[in-house]
Amino acid sequence: MEKKTVLSCIQPTGHMHFGNYFGAVKNWVDLQEKYDCFYGVVNYHAMTMPYKPDKLRQNTWDLIFNLLATGIQPENLFIQSLVPEHSELSWIFNCFTPYGRLNQMTQFKDKSSKSTDDGFISAGLLNYPVLQAADILIYRADFVPVGKDQDQHLELTRTIASRFNNQVGKEYFVMPKGLHTETPKIASTADPTRKMSKSAGEKHYINVFDDEARIRKQIRSAVTDTGEPSGEMSAGVENLFLLIKAGGNEQAHVSLMEDYNADNLKYVDLKEAAAETLVALSQKFREKRAELLANKKEVKGQIKASSAEIRKRAQQTLKDVKDLSGLMNVRF
Ligand code: TYM
Repeated sequence: MEKKTVLSCIQPTGHMHFGNYFGAVKNWVDLQEKYDCFYGVVNYHAMTMPYKPDKLRQNTWDLIFNLLATGIQPENLFIQSLVPEHSELSWIFNCFTPYGRLNQMTQFKDKSSKSTDDGFISAGLLNYPVLQAADILIYRADFVPVGKDQDQHLELTRTIASRFNNQVGKEYFVMPKGLHTETPKIASTADPTRKMSKSAGEKHYINVFDDEARIRKQIRSAVTDTGEPSGEMSAGVENLFLLIKAGGNEQAHVSLMEDYNADNLKYVDLKEAAAETLVALSQKFREKRAELLANKKEVKGQIKASSAEIRKRAQQTLKDVKDLSGLMNVRF
């Protein structure tokens, strides 16, 4: 039987944080055994907010090395701008997208409300979910492993796919399904009512590759009490438990949960266990990354080659789409 296809992507807007890792990337690694997987570092997406070109280049390669260090196989990894068909398909999909849906997207509302110096909001930010639909559908993905915050974008992707299918009179695209980990929403430790995120500011994320001291500091200052009624687990405490569980520290999780149930939990112990869990994971990945960085040139070459290979699949879909849409095709 032919393997099902998995696609997912991450933006190179900073380093990979534990929300990205536990919400998505950990799943990416595990899915590689069973599926045909495509994982993209989406640099076109990272242009939708004001940015610096040198930083974008640097972040793109940093993220590639970080993903490889966590266990993504190089042949499954590509850089979006090395597969320019994504942006061409995105234009075509713009013509199948109900535009009123775009300014209802939570991510658009969040990011457009963060005023920059001159109040500039790019049309790219509005059209971002259309490019995301192209990322997914260009590989005709069956499954998309993402965190909970991406559900809305996935829903729009299905709308675009079915509108396209209807208009061209063929069930060309399959409807992609989201896949969640057990922890699809990791909260900020500084404010557990919001998600861990790079765009919320320094305090609101912990990078997987941060040095030990920063990880410990961030966990030590985690907010635990947020005024919940007694008897209810606070969002901050729940989040720390999630981090321990997601990090595979089952033993600490069980024993601290027993303390909690006996009304005997000491926050300092909970924080210590969370910090230990994250530091151990980070240490393991950092060692792997150092090995990869020792062969920097070779690894970069590998990723350029895998992007070129993956591109062939994208080219085939784009060719079909252009045929189906009544557009002339370039021969390749
Ligand atoms: P991005 O780059 O913000 O995040 C990458 C992945 O990490 C997940 N994630 C989280 N999961 C749990 N808790 C959190 N606090 C948390 N923060 C982030 C995200 O859900 C995502 O799975 N629009 C996407 C990038 C994208 C994409 C795609 C994803 C572009 N094209 C095609 C899937 C398929 C984004 O901004 O993710």
